[in-house]
Amino acid sequence: MDAIIKGDIEQIKKSIDTEAFREKSVLVSGGSGFLGSWICDVLSEVGSKIICLDNLSTGVFENVDHLKGTKGFEFEKADVCSYSRNPRVDMIFHLASRPAPEDYQKHPVETALANSEGTKQMLELARKHDARVLFASSSEAYGDPEVFPTPESYEGRVNPLGPRSCYEEGKRFGEALCKAYHDQYEIDVKIARIFNSYGPRLRAEGFYGRVVSRFILQSLKGEDLTVFGDGLQTRSFCYVTDTVTGLLAQMGNEARSDVLNLGSEDETRIIDLAGKVIQLSPAGSGLKHLPFPPGDHLRRQPDITNARKVLGWEPKVGLDQGLSRTAKWFGKKRDQ
Ligand SMILES: NC(=O)c1ccc[n+]([C@@H]2O[C@H](COP(=O)([O-])OP(=O)(O)OC[C@H]3O[C@@H](n4cnc5c(N)ncnc54)[C@H](O)[C@@H]3O)[C@@H](O)[C@H]2O)c1
Repeated sequence: MDAIIKGDIEQIKKSIDTEAFREKSVLVSGGSGFLGSWICDVLSEVGSKIICLDNLSTGVFENVDHLKGTKGFEFEKADVCSYSRNPRVDMIFHLASRPAPEDYQKHPVETALANSEGTKQMLELARKHDARVLFASSSEAYGDPEVFPTPESYEGRVNPLGPRSCYEEGKRFGEALCKAYHDQYEIDVKIARIFNSYGPRLRAEGFYGRVVSRFILQSLKGEDLTVFGDGLQTRSFCYVTDTVTGLLAQMGNEARSDVLNLGSEDETRIIDLAGKVIQLSPAGSGLKHLPFPPGDHLRRQPDITNARKVLGWEPKVGLDQGLSRTAKWFGKKRDQ
C-alpha cells in the first residue's frame, strides 16, 4: 500500500474502536470505490473478514488489488441489485452507487436501482443474519436546502423529476427503506448523510471526475481548471480519513439506528478551492468557466451537532492539509 494512504490508515485506526470490527464478517458493497476501499483497508488491518462486493462500474480493482490474497479478504464482482449469495455477515456497509452527477445522469436507471433494489438486497441479507447495515446516503438527499447549516431534521427540497432525481430520490428511497426494515423487522440500520469527501483514490477522470481530484489532475497537467458557472457555489469538503472515521464510528456505535450528517462545517466556494489547488502546483494553470449545470446546487453545509453528540466525531483535517496530501498522492501516482 502507498505510504500516504498507509499513514492515513494508521490515523483512522487510532480514532476508532477497532475491537468493534475484530473477527467480524463485514460485507462492503461498492468496496473497490473511493470510500469503500478505504473502509476495506481499515477492516483488513483490524482483523475483519471482508467481502468486497463491486461491479466495477465506477470503482477500479486497483484500489483493493493489494488486499488480494490477504487473510479474510474476498473480492466478488457482482451487481448489488441482483446479489443472490447468502454469506454469514455481521455488518454491511452499503456504498454501491454511482455518485458523480455527470456519470449518474448517463446511467439514471442503474443509479436509482443501486439505492433502491440494491438497498433491499442488502437489508434482506441483514435480516437473514441479524446484521447491522450502514447505508451511505448523501447531502443530496436534502436537494436544494434553504437552511444552513443543514440539520438532519431538515426534510429536504427535491424535485422528483429533476436532472439529479435518480440520485437524490434514490438516496431518499434508500433511507425510507432502511427505516421500513427497522420498523417492521427491527433491523439495526444506520444512515450516514455524507457531504463531499475527497482524498487519495477519488476518481478524477472524465465523467467519473469529482471536483477536488479533477482540479488536482488538471493542475498537474498544466491545464485550466474547469469551473461551472461563476464558481461562487459552495461545498463543504471533508478529508477522507475524517469521513471514513465517521462511517466506522457510526457502524461501531452500539446505540441502535440513527441518521447522521458526516461532513465538514467549513463551507468553501468552488472558485476559492480552485485558487488553493492552483497554488499547490507550479504548472501555472488558469480557470476555464463552463455553464452552470441544470439542477446543480448553490450551497452545502452540514450541521454536525448530532455526530459530535452521538459519536464524539468531528473532522480533524483542515482543507489546506487535506488538499496538500491529496495533491501529493496524485502527483506520485502520475509519476509512477
Ligand atoms: N464521496 C463522497 O463525497 C460522497 C458523498 C455523498 C455520498 N456518497 C456515497 O458514498 C458511496 C460511495 O461513494 P464513493 O465516493 O466511494 O464513490 P465510488 O464511485 O468511488 O464508489 C462506488 C462504488 O460502487 C460500485 N457500484 C456502483 N453501482 C454498483 C452496483 N449496482 N453494484 C455493485 N457495485 C456498484 C462502483 O463500481 C464503485 O466501486 C456512494 O453510495 C455515494 O453515493 C459519497
